[in-house]
Amino acid sequence: MLETPPLALYVHFPWCVRKCPYCDFNSHALHGELEERRYVEALQRDLEAQAPEASGREVSSIFLGGGTPSLFSPHAVACVLESARRHLTLAVDLEVTLEANPGTIERGRFTEYRAAGVNRVSLGAQSFDDARLAALGRIHCAEETRRAAAELHAAGLDNFNIDLMYGLPGQDVGAALHDVEEALALGPSHLSHYQLTIEAGTVFAGRPPPLPSDETTDEMLDACRGPLQRVGFEQYEISAYAVAGRRCRHNRNYWLFGDYLGIGAGAHGKLSLPLAGEVVRTTQVREPRRYISSAGRATFTRTAVPAGELPFEFMLNALRLVDGFDVPTFTARTGLTWEAVAGTMADLVEEGLIVASGACYRASPRGLRFLNDVLLRFVTEIPKRAGQSELSTALHPAPELSNRGLFTGVGGGNVK
Ligand SMILES: C[S@@+](CC[C@H](N)C(=O)[O-])C[C@H]1O[C@@H](n2cnc3c(N)ncnc32)[C@H](O)[C@@H]1O
Ligand code: SF4
Repeated sequence: MLETPPLALYVHFPWCVRKCPYCDFNSHALHGELEERRYVEALQRDLEAQAPEASGREVSSIFLGGGTPSLFSPHAVACVLESARRHLTLAVDLEVTLEANPGTIERGRFTEYRAAGVNRVSLGAQSFDDARLAALGRIHCAEETRRAAAELHAAGLDNFNIDLMYGLPGQDVGAALHDVEEALALGPSHLSHYQLTIEAGTVFAGRPPPLPSDETTDEMLDACRGPLQRVGFEQYEISAYAVAGRRCRHNRNYWLFGDYLGIGAGAHGKLSLPLAGEVVRTTQVREPRRYISSAGRATFTRTAVPAGELPFEFMLNALRLVDGFDVPTFTARTGLTWEAVAGTMADLVEEGLIVASGACYRASPRGLRFLNDVLLRFVTEIPKRAGQSELSTALHPAPELSNRGLFTGVGGGNVK
């Protein structure tokens, strides 16, 4: 039976100083003045319009993502969080994450964000090699990332993530390892380690840079686990490592197929409606200007996820977690019986791609390595077993935050 899972709030900020050539998120280079006040007002209208969907439910985390939310002033962030407090019921131990680009951090800024209610930050470092940062079109150098991390500690925001990418143009295993060591030296509590993927529609897709071979990127991944484990960082998701007690609550909710409201230009939401027996997805208008002029006037579309797609959507998220999931979570979050996937799961267990232990299922190391192939089985086999035609892998519009490197453009939502 479909149950009501935990609820989160995602808020999208769609502008950046410059568009990075690898990025396919709904982010736009800022030309002219930031329309901060008008955008915040649109977010407030959006939140007010969507809040009834969350009536009687508690919000356990808020993620201010982008784009570059740190282009917005602490006052703007405070206004958004104040609206959330007014229209929603927030958990007492609410996690509030702000994504920050090291190139936008002025002195003292993090202290003000913290005063506004932010208690976790995600810093987009990407690399500590200045030549590589320039090749990635980043607006900052490694020293600015170090300075931003020092500002975080000074502000008492010790719970912060560093985003790193590996498999970068011209990078070898030693250089990838060096980036991880540099990141760890800054004292984060969490590290997101993404393999650079070439996404359709980006500058890199038109002019692909020379990338390391698959063997080299596999070696990078293996080599980087060593220093992370040595300082107590446990891998809990395909791209995420954290010290004890610092796993990202917001992202874990996505991966366990929890619910979230999505506000802001192009933001996605997901809601479980047990009475209707439906899981619905919401999508806001993508273009920032249209969003500003129309948000709050029912501009988001709402579509029910067909039952035949739920197993794939669930697995797309839950199998990313190193510990996987258990059967009761599958049935509660999809409203389906285990029989819907039992045959496919049994085959995957026999092939050594999934490990079963009692009612728990997780991807094996080989299954994690070839997760795309594992997931494809839920696209091709489940509908066939249910007597339907195959699902298309392009059922959903490209979300602004796809599951990096995995079925880009499908399912997911606002995962970072
Ligand atoms: C919305 S961005 C982060 C915040 C901020 N805009 C920044 O870039 O500093 C989320 C993260 O996704 C990762 N990312 C973006 N595009 C990627 C790609 N094509 N391949 C792998 N990782 C990517 C980067 O590590 C990035 O920091
Ligand atoms: S990677 Fe971050 S800074 Fe670069 S364009 Fe994308 S959202 Fe903006």
